[in-house]
Amino acid sequence: MVDVESFIPEATDEIAEAIGDKNAVIALSGGVDSSTAAALAYEAIGDQLTAVYVDTGLMRKGETDEIRETFGYMDSLRIVEAQDRFLDALGGETDPEEKRHVIGEQFIREFETVARDVDADYLVQGTIYPDRIESEGTIKSHHNVGGLPEVVDFEGIVEPMRDLYKDEVREVARALDLEEIISERMPFPGPGLAVRIIGEVTEEKLEVAREANHVVEDELEAYDPWQALAAVIGKATGVKGDNRVHGWVVAVRSVESRDGMTARAQEIDWETLQRIQSRITGSHETVARVVYDVTHKPPATIEYE
Ligand code: XMP
Repeated sequence: MVDVESFIPEATDEIAEAIGDKNAVIALSGGVDSSTAAALAYEAIGDQLTAVYVDTGLMRKGETDEIRETFGYMDSLRIVEAQDRFLDALGGETDPEEKRHVIGEQFIREFETVARDVDADYLVQGTIYPDRIESEGTIKSHHNVGGLPEVVDFEGIVEPMRDLYKDEVREVARALDLEEIISERMPFPGPGLAVRIIGEVTEEKLEVAREANHVVEDELEAYDPWQALAAVIGKATGVKGDNRVHGWVVAVRSVESRDGMTARAQEIDWETLQRIQSRITGSHETVARVVYDVTHKPPATIEYE
């Protein structure tokens, strides 16, 4: 386990030394990794850092407001409202890798605009150890690891947490007094709800996925999962009121893991599952069914795409 007492000063020294009196940017995602890296970098270089949060429209419920509250103390926080541009760029795309690619590209474009605007020379990233391993193995394209540096012409990239595991990042986040909602938050993938929607991303599916993810995080918090999530996986018949409907099937998944590389599906009690089912089917006219995913990783992945 990382020794937080020595890690924080070492990391801030490293950041300050690498960046000197130049400007840096960091992409804030709302997750614990980028938030912790941003807090470390802000401590190291203050307003030479611009933290950029791109609201892709694929975020969790309330996430943008939480960012505003948590990082509002940074004068240089930039919130980019890009929801429409992401949906437009995704168009009717259904291929999982292509969806990731489109989101990654759009993200780079949004980020690049701000980086140019503030004359940033350095990029700070919240990359952690498992990200590097999965990226090297090209298990799938992680948009927050592969893409950015190649496109924007930075003088250097600073990754102060490159050797840490997620539980160590949480330790650091707590030591930095980050809001609990961030330090204890479940990991959320860079491409957001798009990988929790099978096939085409539409506003309707996004609405269903956003609310269902909120319900699942809320109901399963007590199980202390590595990740608990909901995905819109297809359509099936159901009966709502007096009508037969062809509505969405929402899959619920809750897993234990240390680093996301392998994971075990959690055993959840029936009553909790039923409550989740009832809240999700009740949340939206067009949700017909809720199923629980019992598959470990491997053979499944944690996310659905
Ligand atoms: P999978 O679905 O491959 O996910 O079992 C492993 C862990 O990685 C997260 N994940 C991502 N995180 N960008 C990210 O920042 C991504 O593109 C991405 N894809 C998956 C996933 O949520 C899980 O914690």
